[in-house]
Amino acid sequence: MTPLVFRGGPLRGEVRVAGDKSISHRALMLAALAPGVSSVERPNRGADVMATRDAIVALGAQVEDRGETIAVRGGVLHDPPGTLDARNSGTTARLLMGLCAGHGINAVFDGDASLRRRPMERVARPLRALGAEVHTTAGRLPAGVRGIVEPPGGEFQLELASAQVKSAILLANLQARGPVIITGDRHSRDHTERMLRRFGRQITFDGRTIALLPGALSPQTVRVPADLSGAAFFITAAATTPGSDLLLKDVGVNPTRTGFIDVLLAMGADLQLVDARELDGEPVADVRVRYRPLHATSVDGETVVRAIDEVTIIAVAAAHAEGTTRIRDAADLRGKESDRLTTITATLRACGVEIAEHPDGLDITGGTARAPGRTLHAFDDHRIAMAIAALAAPSGDHAIDDGACIDISFPDFAELWSKTQTA
Ligand code: S3P
Repeated sequence: MTPLVFRGGPLRGEVRVAGDKSISHRALMLAALAPGVSSVERPNRGADVMATRDAIVALGAQVEDRGETIAVRGGVLHDPPGTLDARNSGTTARLLMGLCAGHGINAVFDGDASLRRRPMERVARPLRALGAEVHTTAGRLPAGVRGIVEPPGGEFQLELASAQVKSAILLANLQARGPVIITGDRHSRDHTERMLRRFGRQITFDGRTIALLPGALSPQTVRVPADLSGAAFFITAAATTPGSDLLLKDVGVNPTRTGFIDVLLAMGADLQLVDARELDGEPVADVRVRYRPLHATSVDGETVVRAIDEVTIIAVAAAHAEGTTRIRDAADLRGKESDRLTTITATLRACGVEIAEHPDGLDITGGTARAPGRTLHAFDDHRIAMAIAALAAPSGDHAIDDGACIDISFPDFAELWSKTQTA
């Protein structure tokens, strides 16, 4: 593939980034379960969400994909005719394993080489505890699920603060005979809980404990906010590049996702949330960001959980912030699309940044980036590729030799990026 080039220079104007990926997955899955026609508006159109769309079709949902809207007739699901291919998408594999486990569905799950390396026992264990049969391949994909109907419900203790594990347990228990209590959460993203409430279920959640009562799902229209995880690359580039002034429209600012905003504010960024409002059960706002010099900070604990997909872009912001930023409690990043602690270290180091890798984090010294004009490798990880675009904005052009991976979450990224650099 010809390298994808990202230029240096300020970002200006107004942009609506891709729809929220997490919310799009959940809207499609609940639409597949709710009897009747639901519609998902402005969904994320990346390859991960398309893997979920295709998987629910294989499970029996009738889907009419009109691009800006996906209409789904749900309620009657069956065993898929072949292997469910989650491709690169951990959310597709893990959440659908839960869905199948609690709806009497037998299915084999597989994915691409990257997904085959990612841990699946974290989901398999709680699903076995409710009575489903789950076989993994040495803890990974391919995995087989033999589902049950009407699990008993009861109490589940989360082993780690993972929204995917929590969501798999919830989806597995939608037909439970009694109440379901999940404890041990630490403010992992609560989109499944909010989406269940929107689809008519009685559920309470406070960042620690979730309680779901027996009930039924009713079909809905869901408008999807713009994805803060996609906006984060634009926000960081604008915050670190002199002359930038950018407005990002309709951004999801669910408090379980805004660790990144808290970190940038702690670094002194000129960020404002404007016109805060709610869109179909999710908080949204427009985000205005202008350049201002940044300083180092520390990132750990629940902030990492609330910024789990933004740690790589926080490292880029830190490379332009005065002082040494310390990131800890981020070991789970080693099990993402790439080992993100290692891949962001290699990327920043190739650009001259002083960075030290630790078992669960990074130390990044700001102001050390040099040597623009590099051709970099994104390790086939979309979030590394987009982090490189943000790195180029203040320090000079960079090219990526494997930019196609950006399609996973944000197919229009390069086009929107160059629009904001010419606005
Ligand atoms: C996601 C949860 C997070 C996140 C992933 C999407 C979700 O994973 O990293 O990109 O949609 O539930 P974990 O639950 O493994 O932390």
